[in-house]
Amino acid sequence: MRKPIASVEKASKIYTMAENVVTALDTTTLNVYPGELMLILGPSGSGKTTLLSLLGCMIKPTAGEVFINDIPITTLSEKELAKIRLFQIGFVFQQFNLIAPLNAWDNIALPLRMQNVPEAEIKPRADKALAFVGLRDKAKNLPKQLSGGQQQRIAIARALVTNPPMLLCDEPTASLDHQALTTVMEQLQKLATEQGKAVCVVTHDPRLKPYSHRVIQVESGIVTEL
Ligand SMILES: Nc1ncnc2c1ncn2[C@@H]1O[C@H](COP(=O)(O)OP(=O)(O)OP(=O)(O)O)[C@@H](O)[C@H]1O
Ligand SMILES: [Mg+2]
Repeated sequence: MRKPIASVEKASKIYTMAENVVTALDTTTLNVYPGELMLILGPSGSGKTTLLSLLGCMIKPTAGEVFINDIPITTLSEKELAKIRLFQIGFVFQQFNLIAPLNAWDNIALPLRMQNVPEAEIKPRADKALAFVGLRDKAKNLPKQLSGGQQQRIAIARALVTNPPMLLCDEPTASLDHQALTTVMEQLQKLATEQGKAVCVVTHDPRLKPYSHRVIQVESGIVTEL
């Protein structure tokens, strides 16, 4: 039996704003496994980011439970959730990924500094992450001195420098051309197949399907396995 890294069990997310009640995610049960790149497809407003946010412990479900390595997250404090996010999960977002005044290398080193990793250990680990995404020559570049695809690759390096078992990516290829998209997706795929990470990628883009091991569809808050 494969053991999931994250499990969503009969979890839903409902937002109430004045008289408006929005079911962002209907009751969902889903396991996320190591070594698997899972695509989360669906139209705008369907609940993809909500699902990813539950998996990433950024929000708690309205009902049901989310487990990270068997730990039920609804029982945890904000501080404990922050610790899970920092040590168990790497995040890659569509925009505002990198810290503007920090160069590529310092962006990558940031999560290690937050984990209080000794400086002597930070150097080789940040160097290795930078090499993994093939951008050793861009260490000193500020984000604005990198192309969109290069920025996404630095964001991937920053997400994996802490060696988290799970990587969550929200539209990581939205602004990329075909070549940059191929590079980014090949790197994400490698993290699943060669390093055994659980990689979840939210997208509108059906071109990403060939890189995935599994596709789930979200429509009007309802998740189906394709
Ligand atoms: N914090 C919030 N407060 C109120 N409503 C929200 C909140 N977050 C999301 N929603 C609503 O929940 C629904 C699902 O939103 P979600 O962000 O998950 O969609 P999405 O599939 O990621 O869309 P997109 O592809 O446009 O990013 C939408 O109707 C949205 O308006
Ligand atoms: Mg979204």
